[in-house]
Amino acid sequence: MRLSVLGIACSPRRNGNTTSLLLEGMRTAQAEGHITELVYLSDLKINPCQGCGACSAKGICVIKDDIPMLQEKLIQSDRLIIAAPIYFMGVNAQTKLMIDRMQTFWARKYLLNQSLIKPSGPERIGIFLSTAGTQLPNVFECAERTIKTFFHMLDIQYGESCLYSGVDKVGEIEESPQSFEEVRKATQTLLLS
Ligand SMILES: Cc1cc2nc3c(=O)[nH]c(=O)nc-3n(C[C@H](O)[C@H](O)[C@H](O)COP(=O)(O)O)c2cc1C
Repeated sequence: MRLSVLGIACSPRRNGNTTSLLLEGMRTAQAEGHITELVYLSDLKINPCQGCGACSAKGICVIKDDIPMLQEKLIQSDRLIIAAPIYFMGVNAQTKLMIDRMQTFWARKYLLNQSLIKPSGPERIGIFLSTAGTQLPNVFECAERTIKTFFHMLDIQYGESCLYSGVDKVGEIEESPQSFEEVRKATQTLLLS
């Protein structure tokens, strides 16, 4: 089955470590004949959630920016690969900005009882790719919890994660060919699931 695979590059460094891993995943999906689309968060205009509660009424956000366009892509995709770096022991601000705006999905799901899933579509699954400069224990813990909550909100099953610590400068991930191999395998599993 030909799946639509959405990749979201969340780092502000377009040539950074997480984006390199994501590109490997997207190449894998493309090589296997799936439809791929790559979005760089740094290209989008995203304002922070104001917590105004307006979305509780109709499930629509009052802020006019690129989030509705991204939400549509998230709804339509069968598979998601999200790549985000660790900043201050959590996901970077750009990623969190995007995720907080998914509050409209929370309102649709829990207040308005609307389903986000395409009735005839396959089960939706996603994977999480990340790098962190330090090798502190649990360095990915907060980020993984945030991403799992984001996936849950969108009815996306959390497939697996490829997380690499001790990777800091741009290009440093290239020193670990094994990480690319793992992302290839995780993507293949994602597409077979
Ligand atoms: C503002 C900022 C905060 C960071 N905070 C952490 C941190 O708390 N823990 C850590 O291990 N690395 C931290 N890092 C390092 C990044 O996680 C690391 O450089 C990562 O590989 C960046 O991924 P990228 O190349 O995809 O942007 C931080 C980097 C920046 C710029």
